Amino acid sequence: MSQASSLAAGSASAEATSAAGRVQWSTRMAFILAAAGSAVGLGNIWKFPYITGENGGGAFVLVYLACILIIGIPVMMAEIALGRRGRHNPAQGISSIVKEAGAHPFWKIIGGMALLAGFMILCFYSIIAGWAFAYVPKAASGAFVGASADEIGAMFGGMLADPVGLTIWGTLVLAITMWIVSRGLQGGLEKAINTLMPGLLVLLLVMVGYAMSTDHFEHGLEFLFAADFSKLTASSVLVALGHAFFTLSLASGAIMTYGSYLPKNVSIVKTSLLIAFMDTAVALLAGLAIFPLVFANGLEPGAGPGLIFVTLPIAFGQMPFGTAFGAIFFILLAVAALTSAISLLEPTVSWMTEKFDMSRAKACALTGLLLWVGGIGVVLSLNIGAEWTLFGKTFFDMLDYLTANWMMPLGGLMMAIFCGWVLSRETTIDEMGMGKGLLYKAWLFTLRYVSPIAIIVVFLNALGVIQL
Ligand code: PFF
Repeated sequence: MSQASSLAAGSASAEATSAAGRVQWSTRMAFILAAAGSAVGLGNIWKFPYITGENGGGAFVLVYLACILIIGIPVMMAEIALGRRGRHNPAQGISSIVKEAGAHPFWKIIGGMALLAGFMILCFYSIIAGWAFAYVPKAASGAFVGASADEIGAMFGGMLADPVGLTIWGTLVLAITMWIVSRGLQGGLEKAINTLMPGLLVLLLVMVGYAMSTDHFEHGLEFLFAADFSKLTASSVLVALGHAFFTLSLASGAIMTYGSYLPKNVSIVKTSLLIAFMDTAVALLAGLAIFPLVFANGLEPGAGPGLIFVTLPIAFGQMPFGTAFGAIFFILLAVAALTSAISLLEPTVSWMTEKFDMSRAKACALTGLLLWVGGIGVVLSLNIGAEWTLFGKTFFDMLDYLTANWMMPLGGLMMAIFCGWVLSRETTIDEMGMGKGLLYKAWLFTLRYVSPIAIIVVFLNALGVIQL
C-alpha cells in the first residue's frame, strides 16, 4: 500500500509504512511535533523555572543554553540517527546496529539501559503529572482565592500526604497515556499530539500575555537574562548539564524510538535543531510566564519544587482573573506532561510488541500495570513510606537520582562514544545526510571529544574524584 493510500484509509491497521514494512510518521512535521511534545514537559514548566530560581537566574540560564547547544543537540542527533538506523525498539535496534558494525556486544547495553531509564522515569513522571491534573479542578474552583500562603502550602502538603488521592490522579494519567499509545503511531500518538501541541502553545502564550499585563514583566526578564556569574556555583553547572539531558528527553529510549519511525529522507540535523529550539523556547517562555507573577506578588523565586505548586498559586490567589489563569496554567502543565508520558511509554510498548510478538493493547496493559505498581512505590515514598530509605533515599528519590544523575548522562556518554568512535564514518555520514564537510566534522568532533569529556568531568565531580 502506498503511503498516500494508507493515509487516506486512516485506520490504525493501515498506517503508512516504510519499504521495509515498518510503520512511520506520516509527515516530517508529525515527527517534529511528537519529539517536541516529548521534550516539552514537566521539565520545562515545572523544573526549569524552579532550578533557575534556586540557581540565581541569568548566569544559570546561560550555562544551561550552552549545555543544550554543545552537548544536548549533538547527542540528540546521534540518538535519532541510532533510532533510525536500528528501525526497531531501542534494545533490538541497537543490537542490530552493533551486529552490522561488528562492534563488541558490550555496546548493546545502550538500548537496554535506555529502555530501563524510560520505564523508571515514567514511574515517577506519571505521579508528578498527576499533581498537575489534580491542580486543575483546585485552581478552577477558586481554592486559591483569599487563601493565605500557609493555607496554600498546607494544600500542597495535604495532597502529598494522601496516598489514595495521589494514586487516583497517577492512575488517571497512566490510563490516558496507555489509551493513546495503544491506538498506534498514527491513530494514537500523532492524532493526540497534533491536537495537544498547538493547544499547549496557545495556553502558554496566553499565560505570557497575562504576565506581560503585570508591571513586573521586566523584572522577570531581568531575572532570566541578566547574568550575574557570582551566583553561579559548580553544582549549578552539574544541574544544568543533567537538566539538558532530561529536558531534551535524551538517553531514555523516547527520542530513539521516535527516530526509528522517521522516514529516511528527513534531515536529522534540521529536525534536531528545530526540536531543541522549540524546547528551549518553551522553557524560557514558561519562565517569562511565571517569574513576573512571582515578583508582582512579592514572592521568592527560589522556593524549589514548590515554586509551581505553592508560590504560583499564592500569586493566582491574589491576582485579578487568577482563578481562570490558574486553571489555564495547570491545564498547560498537564498537557505538556501528557505528551512526554506518551513518549516514555512508547519505547517499552514497542519493545514488547516486537520482542514478544504481542498486540499493542496487551503490551500497553502489561507495561501500564508494572508502571502502576512502580507508581504506588513513588506515592508511598511521599507519605507513609517516607522513612523507608536506601542509602538515605526514598524510592522516588532513588528513581530520580539514578536516572537523572547516572543513567541519562551515562547513556549520553555511551551514545556519543559509540557514534563518534565505534561506528564507521560511512555509516554516520550515510545516516546524518549532511555530507562530509565542515558541519559533519564539527558534529563528529563534538561527539568524540567535547560531549564525552564534559560528561566525564561531571561524573568525576559527582564521585568526589575532582572538585569543580
Ligand atoms: N523531556 C521531558 C520533560 O522535560 O519533562 C521529560 C522526559 C520525557 C525525559 C521523555 C525523558 C524522556 F524519555
